Order: sequence, then structure tokens, then C-alpha cells
Amino acid sequence: MTPPMPLNYDLTGHNTLGLRASSHYARRIEDEAELPDLFADAARDGLPVRLLGGGSNVILGEQYEGITALMATRGRALSGGAGGAVLVEARAGETWHDLVGWTVAQGLWGLENLALIPGTVGAAPIQNIGAYGVELCDRFHALDAYDRTTGSVVTLGPAECRFAYRHSVFKEQPGRYVVTRVRLNLARNGKPELGYRELSGLGPVDHPATVMDAVIKLRTSKLPDWRVLGNAGSFFHNPVVSAAVGAAFMATNPAAPAYPQADGAIKLSAGWLIEQAGLKGYRAGPVGVSDRHALVLVNYGGATRTELMGLADHVVATVEERFGIRLKREPELL
Ligand code: EPU
Repeated sequence: MTPPMPLNYDLTGHNTLGLRASSHYARRIEDEAELPDLFADAARDGLPVRLLGGGSNVILGEQYEGITALMATRGRALSGGAGGAVLVEARAGETWHDLVGWTVAQGLWGLENLALIPGTVGAAPIQNIGAYGVELCDRFHALDAYDRTTGSVVTLGPAECRFAYRHSVFKEQPGRYVVTRVRLNLARNGKPELGYRELSGLGPVDHPATVMDAVIKLRTSKLPDWRVLGNAGSFFHNPVVSAAVGAAFMATNPAAPAYPQADGAIKLSAGWLIEQAGLKGYRAGPVGVSDRHALVLVNYGGATRTELMGLADHVVATVEERFGIRLKREPELL
């Protein structure tokens, strides 16, 4: 068993927003077999436990009066199937982008559009990560998770994970499952997914690395690098409104981007709404709205959750007042 780390462990470097944060106790989990002990010890001592992966989609409070478990399990493997199908299995603590790069380097198709998304493999299913026309659920095979309610390891397939846009069962039942391994469907003879407008001009593509490189270029040109300027990527969901609300919105805002969904609903662009509300580049003390992409809130240094949430509330209120649309936060309070 890994011994607990010292009191008041500093987590400022463990969240991509770089918020000032610490935890009364922290414990590195290097083997998923340690999980039953972790929860048993915590129950014995009357302490709450929370899991932290790459810290890229969380908003940490200044002080956590419990145990923060840092998922650090490593390992990834490929297994072949019929007709060039390949299954990749990775443990929760693996870095997502490293997994993407490793599979693409072997000529495997499937994850190239999801390059450079910060965070770990174990966190990817929680919000069903997605970018440039592909979501995790499009490649998902199954995952293993430790179920804290029964103390056993379960395997969940796509239906049980209840994936939707930036959503899964893990958001409906927070804290119940600890994802330990994720299995994804890849293909040796795949084809590029170039439906996203900014990838459509790529021309003939015969290797997934071509798509991955284009995605890396797009992301680095649009999104601030969290290593340089703390951020959690998109801070708000793109709002999905009913056909009627969407039509009324488009009538008064004909230039706004709008994406009709299969069920008739309309997805609007939160970045556009925030920019049009005059907030792109807005700054409030140590936090602000990125001047490169209005959907990204940034920490200029030393900010706390209170300051960031104050800014988030201001953005939500300003957009609602201007457009009558209420934005929903994407990263979770932890
Ligand atoms: N826009 C503006 N101003 C801005 C930013 C964007 O007007 O400052 C408008 C533009 O019209 C642009 C449209 O918003 O055409 C869409 O922008 P973009 O292509 O950057 O995508 P997004 O909808 O803002 C979503 C995801 C990103 C993902 C990209 C690419 C959400 C909440 N965000 O952003 O995901 O990388 O599409 O697929 O769905 C993340 O979740 O952290 C994330 C970065």
C-alpha cells in the first residue's frame, strides 16, 4: 500500500487551471488493487475521498478536508481482431494525448481527432471528451471501474455508460465509480473523419498522423496552453436549445453559428455568445476570459476558486441578460 503523503499536500500543480489548492491528505494510486484499502482506510478514519486524474476538467477548492487520491496507474496494450480491427486497453493514469500519439504512430486510426486534449485516460469517459467531429463514445468499447457501493470491479459497456454530449453515467452518479481501465476500438484500415469545417480542406489523407498534426495545429492556434496560462479548455457547454428557441434566436442573430441536431434541437456556440456579449479578453483581477477563445476562462496567476467562480457567474449573467440563454459550466467543482 502506498503510504499517505504529508499533510496539506499542494495541488496547485495538479490542476490545469493552476488554482491555489491543497488537500489535507493525498495518496498516489499506482495499482488499482490499492483501491479497496484506500476506501477502507478512509472509512475507518472518517475521511472523504476524491479522485484526481490530470486535473484538466476540475475546479478545486482551496482546501480539501479529506484524501485526494492521485490516479497514477500506467499501462497500455493492443490486441488484434478480425479485418484490421484493433482494441487498445489503457489504464486510468495514462496521459490521454500520449495514448493518442502512441496509437497514431503505429498507423492506427480512431483517436487522431482527439489529439492534445489534456487529462488522463480515466477522465476521458467522465465527460465523454470530444473535438473536431469525434467523441470518445464513437470509439468506445468498454471500461472497468471500481464500484464504491459494492466494493467490486465492474465492466460497463457503451449503453451502461449513458454517453451524450459532454455527459455520462459518471456525471449522474458522481463518486460511485473509479474508472480503472478503458478499451477503445481502433482500425488498421480506417478512414479519416474530416467532417469538421476546419479539417475539410486537408485533401487526400492516407495516415492518421496527417489528421493528428492538423488537429494539433488548430488547437495550438486557438486555445491557450495551460502550461503557460492556466485554463480548463471550454469552460461552458455549447447550449442546446429547442427548435423554437433556436428559430427565434436565429431570427434576431442571423450571423450566429448554429448546428441543427438529429432530434431537431439546435446547438449554439457559447464562444460566439460570450464574444458578442463583449466579454472576450475581459479581466477581473487574476482571472479573465481568454482573448484568443471566449469559451476559455484563464488564471493569470495565483487565483482561487472563489475568484474564478465570480468571473463565471458574471459571464453567465451577462450572456443571459443579452441573449436570454443560460450557459452551463463544463468543468466540475471538486
Ligand atoms: N467563436 C467565437 N468567438 C470565440 C470562439 C469561438 O465567435 O472567441 C465561434 C466561432 O464562430 C466558431 C465557433 O464559435 O466558429 C466554434 O468555435 P470552435 O470551433 O473553437 O469550437 P467550440 O464550439 O468553441 C468545441 C468544444 C471544444 C473542441 C472544439 C472543436 C465544447 C464546449 N467545446 O468548442 O472542446 O475542441 O469544439 O471540436 O463543446 C473542451 O471541451 O475543453 C474543448 C476545447
